[in-house]
Amino acid sequence: MEVDCGNSKRTIASFDKTDCSISLTVNGKKYEILNADPNMYLNDFLRYHLHLTGTKRLCAEGGCGSCVVAVSKCDPSTNPEAIQAINSCMAPILSLDGYFIITVEALGSKKDGFHEIQKRFASNFASQCGYCTPGFVMNGFSVLASDSSGKTEKEIEDSFDGNICRCTGYRPILDAMKSFAKECNPIDIEDIRSLKSCHQMCTKPCNKTLINLPRSLGVSLWVKPSSILEALSVISRNEEKSVRFVAGNTAIGVYKNDGPFDLYIDLKNLSELNQILLAEKFIEFGASVTLTSMAKFFEQKSNLCSSFQALSDHIKKVANVPVRNVASWAGNLMMKHAHPHFPSDIFIIFETVEAKLNIIDVNGIISSLGMGEFLRCDMNMKVILSMTLPLSLPGEIIRTFKVMPRKQNSYAYVHAGFKADFDEECLVFQGNPTICFGGMGLKSVRVVEAEEFLDMKSLNSYATFQGIKCVLML
Ligand SMILES: Cc1cc2nc3c(=O)[nH]c(=O)nc-3n(C[C@H](O)[C@H](O)[C@H](O)COP(=O)(O)OP(=O)(O)OC[C@H]3O[C@@H](n4cnc5c(N)ncnc54)[C@H](O)[C@@H]3O)c2cc1C
Ligand code: FES
Ligand code: FES
Repeated sequence: MEVDCGNSKRTIASFDKTDCSISLTVNGKKYEILNADPNMYLNDFLRYHLHLTGTKRLCAEGGCGSCVVAVSKCDPSTNPEAIQAINSCMAPILSLDGYFIITVEALGSKKDGFHEIQKRFASNFASQCGYCTPGFVMNGFSVLASDSSGKTEKEIEDSFDGNICRCTGYRPILDAMKSFAKECNPIDIEDIRSLKSCHQMCTKPCNKTLINLPRSLGVSLWVKPSSILEALSVISRNEEKSVRFVAGNTAIGVYKNDGPFDLYIDLKNLSELNQILLAEKFIEFGASVTLTSMAKFFEQKSNLCSSFQALSDHIKKVANVPVRNVASWAGNLMMKHAHPHFPSDIFIIFETVEAKLNIIDVNGIISSLGMGEFLRCDMNMKVILSMTLPLSLPGEIIRTFKVMPRKQNSYAYVHAGFKADFDEECLVFQGNPTICFGGMGLKSVRVVEAEEFLDMKSLNSYATFQGIKCVLML
């Protein structure tokens, strides 16, 4: 198979560094991997090529956390703050060029001595069959190691929304992890970060181990463009191929049967798609910004705008920590685009605040579309660049809701978002509010008739209540 990349035709026999050959570091040891298949995941590489079988695999859809490892784009010995937990079962190995991976083997073992997290799991009887334990330990390690200011008990509890244990029960597991909380008796953060593997003790660069993977002809190709223009050029020259953009690649955990794809285009690390711009009247998020980064940004700036805290709180109800660490908001919306019944929380909350999407086509033309228009737009040969949200007005109130089977890590039965601007007494609607529902029938709905009716109506008037009932029953 051949892919047209503009200047040169890349064929299966001539992969270069930007395609199917990468280098990464696992537990301090560097590997150069040649000819990796786009459908090979980090979990396969760890277990079947490096024989690091401490990392498990169960659901392969981001739901159980048994495959969690810690990753960092920067050397964790120089920048531990950048460590994050990810699900190795959904991370294509080719998306991890230049990454540092830490697995449970680096933390400790019977032979080299156990890590403090492992010791506290044992002393709290937090493991029975042990299948889920490496995932819990690595998630705990990532959460604690990435924040030198320490975590509260509540923050620790909330960060285990992506790990499932079928036999021990969560109380001893959470007891073990909460013993590291700020308000308990935490150990020095440097002790948390200390690993038994060589990576923090290396004094000279280690030699790379070369792994040349066997590859069969006819498999799909991976392209890593260096700019959005290059990505557009690749799609315009490969019109006949089925193309998949890759940001976090977590859609594979929800829709396993999408595909097959001839060509994967890696948008994850494109700097243009990872920017967050805060201007006087709006905020703009690049398409590859992850849900974790977005929620953190909204939380940190929550004093600037009344909608930010509500948006942050709702994003934290989407999926779970390791998924949100890599999942992009744009990938979520594209899932809603391809599968209209998908209960996208991201669609509901950004429709509520009337966000606009900036979408570029292969001719370089950028259109700005509302959420509803986006769902109706043909997205073939187009890329989402960014999303722009207006900053809410001082009197505006925003509330979003998610009714789900469990408190965490669950899709909505029903979700809703409301935005309204009120007078000073918070009684009379100033202009049309927005009212959005999802999970009621196949599609998400914006109740436009009710929105129009409510303009200048008073909240505490019986006539408003009667009127809105009539509008909704029409
Ligand atoms: C276990 C689990 C639980 C989940 N729970 C929830 C939940 O409760 N609520 C909810 O709303 N969602 C939920 N999700 C969905 C999750 O939010 C999405 O999987 C994620 O946001 C997709 O982002 P991604 O970066 O991984 O996309 P990818 O998997 O990389 O891509 C998904 C699609 O988007 C396209 N795409 C990506 N970037 C662009 C771009 N810039 N322009 C055009 N097309 C693009 C790709 O071609 C692909 O078709 C869950 C997912 C998992 C795995
Ligand atoms: S194997 Fe279950 S989340 Fe990866
Ligand atoms: S200890 Fe058995 S699944 Fe958790």
